[in-house]
Amino acid sequence: MLSETLNRALSEQVNAEYYSAYLYQAMSAYADRAGFKGIANWLSIQAKEEMAHGVRIYEHILERGGSPSFNDIKAPPSSYNSVREVFEKVLAHEISVTARINQIASLSVQENDHAAYNFILWYVKEQVEEEKNAKDIIAKIAIMGDNTGLIYHLDMELAGRTFTDPFPVEAADTTAG
Ligand code: FEO
Repeated sequence: MLSETLNRALSEQVNAEYYSAYLYQAMSAYADRAGFKGIANWLSIQAKEEMAHGVRIYEHILERGGSPSFNDIKAPPSSYNSVREVFEKVLAHEISVTARINQIASLSVQENDHAAYNFILWYVKEQVEEEKNAKDIIAKIAIMGDNTGLIYHLDMELAGRTFTDPFPVEAADTTAG
């Protein structure tokens, strides 16, 4: 059974993951309008992943006998000045998410909740990947500078991203009961 404190922290994290989805979808809309369809695709798939992250936490709350709470999701910024700014903001956001996830991990340890700790470790690992992905793209943009032709090259690369369910094994386990 989840403690009230962890129930609240996990519910807030569901909200934060949904906000991430909202944020990246807004960034995707900016990229689409700016003509970068591939970057828009990458961000839109990122938004879908964030929704999956949120749903999985929601499921964990229920699995543990908790009660998810649903709070307002704030509106994300919708205007950006450049693709570089978008990805710098993706990285800054992911760093803030990492801090939130680390807090939940610490809370799980404090409360001696091994199930919650084991659960949140997936997110600890995921955040390393999330920050790295953003950093790698920012590094490429730094090399490209203001060369629009090269940014279009990045756009073509990011057009190749496809959605993969982050929790295929868990989904199969659930089906098997
Ligand atoms: Fe849900 Fe971008 O981490």
